[in-house]
Amino acid sequence: MENVVINEVALRDGLQMHRDFVPTADKLRLLDSLVNAGVRDFEVTSFVSPKAVPQMADAAEVCAGLPQKDDLDYSVLVPNRKGLERAAEAGARTVNLVLSATDTMNQRNIRMTLQQTREACVDTIRHAATLDVAADAYIAVAFECPFEGRVDPQRIVELTREMFEAGAGRVIIADTIGAASPAQVKHLFSLLVPEFGTERFACHFHDTRAMALANVWAALEAGIRRFDSAVGGLGGCPFSPGASGNLATEDLLLFLRQCDFETGISLDRMVEAVDVAREITGRELGGRVMPWVRDQLNRLQAEEASA
Ligand code: COA
Ligand code: ZN
Repeated sequence: MENVVINEVALRDGLQMHRDFVPTADKLRLLDSLVNAGVRDFEVTSFVSPKAVPQMADAAEVCAGLPQKDDLDYSVLVPNRKGLERAAEAGARTVNLVLSATDTMNQRNIRMTLQQTREACVDTIRHAATLDVAADAYIAVAFECPFEGRVDPQRIVELTREMFEAGAGRVIIADTIGAASPAQVKHLFSLLVPEFGTERFACHFHDTRAMALANVWAALEAGIRRFDSAVGGLGGCPFSPGASGNLATEDLLLFLRQCDFETGISLDRMVEAVDVAREITGRELGGRVMPWVRDQLNRLQAEEASA
């Protein structure tokens, strides 16, 4: 069986838009439940302005509380050099930069034009290297921007080239508002893979229009083996109208399992993590597979009880 890595982003992308501040201890409890389920890769927080995103004001405390095991991989989002420096001080080993593909999206998100953001990302990636911190680059609104509409795939090729040339370890193609179709995903990777290969890419899909799994399939077919998702389908971007939940980790997990990919993650235990996510947010969360999965679990329990 081939391996696929699931990078869990509930603690950052999942929670950043949640209206009530989730206490640090609850964030770490959610993380623990995900580690228990077998998740090894996480985006845990962002070092952004606490005025812009109050939910992430405890970024350093979250980092200080992370369980330290050799097989656990944590990354944090940083919007600029200041974020990088705060992250490095808090012990982060990998930072994620966000380069939105359009002018308006960069302005709404981090108050810079596309050109300024490109330069800032290159600068931050290079600066990270001097601090011995790895840097990955998210290309946000890579298919469609809520303000400027469809994005030219050639632009994504150029931005990708620029990020790799600056020293980014990975480029993550992000459909921030969940507007992409599998046909677009297929087309974009047909341009990217011949030049850059598959190994250094990951995908970040939102399920706004119920196309996230179809998009995962298109990316799998293109050879991509790393995907972001958020337990319970938490998430969204506060600066991007129309952004709703991330692809739910439990949906992605069952999908990959049925397509014969190995993730090292237990679906039963992921159900427990969904419950923790519901508890700490007070929201009715859960991917589309949840009714079926719970039904299966109940049936198994009933069988065991009667055996
Ligand atoms: N962490 C904490 N504070 C930061 C910061 C960071 N990474 N970068 C800047 N600041 C502080 C500055 O020190 C300054 O503080 P002060 O008002 O106390 O002097 C204040 O924020 C404004 O700084 P400035 O450089 O003028 O930034 P800005 O007002 O143009 O805002 C961002 C830019 C990037 C800091 C802000 O828009 C932001 O944090 N956005 C969050 C984006 C995000 O999380 N999006 C979702 C994920 S993609
Ligand atoms: Zn997202």
